[in-house]
Amino acid sequence: MALFCGNAVSIIGTGICIPEKVLTNNDLSKMVDTSDQWIVERTGIKERHIASDNEMTSDLALMAAESALLDAGIDRSEIDMIIVATNTPDTLFPGVGPIVQGKLGASNAGAFDVQAGCTSCIYALAVGASGIASGVWNKVLVIGAEVLSRIVNWKDRNTCVLFGDGAGAVILAKSDGASSRLLSTRLCSDGEKSELITLPAGLIANPANLETLQNNLHYVHMKGNEVFKFVNKVLPPFITKLCENSGLTVEDIDWWIFHQANLRIIESVMKRLSVPSEKAVIDLARYGNTSAASTLIALHEAMKDGRIKEGDRVLLASFGAGMTYGSLIYQA
Ligand code: COA
Repeated sequence: MALFCGNAVSIIGTGICIPEKVLTNNDLSKMVDTSDQWIVERTGIKERHIASDNEMTSDLALMAAESALLDAGIDRSEIDMIIVATNTPDTLFPGVGPIVQGKLGASNAGAFDVQAGCTSCIYALAVGASGIASGVWNKVLVIGAEVLSRIVNWKDRNTCVLFGDGAGAVILAKSDGASSRLLSTRLCSDGEKSELITLPAGLIANPANLETLQNNLHYVHMKGNEVFKFVNKVLPPFITKLCENSGLTVEDIDWWIFHQANLRIIESVMKRLSVPSEKAVIDLARYGNTSAASTLIALHEAMKDGRIKEGDRVLLASFGAGMTYGSLIYQA
């Protein structure tokens, strides 16, 4: 079942936080054997933002949350739950959620992190919305935040050209059942493909030691080409099914917000769905792949610049380490 039942859930505020420092493709070509032309042709990325040494995931998350609260015009005391989607928590514990909750002074809120690769933000939105739909919570702050630059090997051209840092936040609230509402969601995982994106060492399976450090096992490892093929195979039928289960067709979707991993992936998935590429919200040229933050940043920008209008149907879809994938349909 894909449809949200019970209380209607709406998005009442959004915010983002993008670190100031910009790293262009030309900057990268001085660090590894690559070029602006290769990166643009293969990924669509032109530049990405990088957190400064003293900026942590919780700092970006906090700033995105504050701007979403301002946008929603509500007090922090009204938040019942804070869910942070991240693969780069400041530390394993405490989680980013409780750190943000404390710094925000959201004294009535619980807080926790969700870690499901780049799909974490869709999982977090689905959990937050389900909590409101069922009547357990009234208002939920969902944040996607990453400082991927600290787990990227800046000497590995296969991965370092792809990622960037940033945060996006959304406030979900019980609504009066007006037209604006989250319609449906579907979350999947294919753990048999878990070797495609990994961070091999630094935790239980492979505690950090001199050897893991020397072998760069504390950095992201990815079989990029296989990820590309996996996404092209699973995402189009998965999305078609979600639309069907929601009583919609792909033509009923006004805006497509895919995980901003690679322009070629987005274009080929849209082509397989026979959807014109003008319906895609794309910002990866400026931000790169910000993992769990990426769809929330794109959603914020498209809502704020007027592309997404009242009544539009917006489909968010993501994929990532696990391999997880998921999608959610929102009527603005
Ligand atoms: N600059 C220049 N050359 C590079 C390069 C770089 N940054 N990275 C790889 N290459 C080279 C490779 O060494 C290879 O050279 P060879 O043909 O001499 O062996 C060649 O470019 C092609 O490599 P390949 O890996 O086949 O390229 P690709 O077209 O698959 O593009 C990715 C690589 C990573 C951009 C692409 O596979 C991708 O985006 N995959 C999905 C990754 C993703 O979305 N991850 C996030 C999931 S959350």
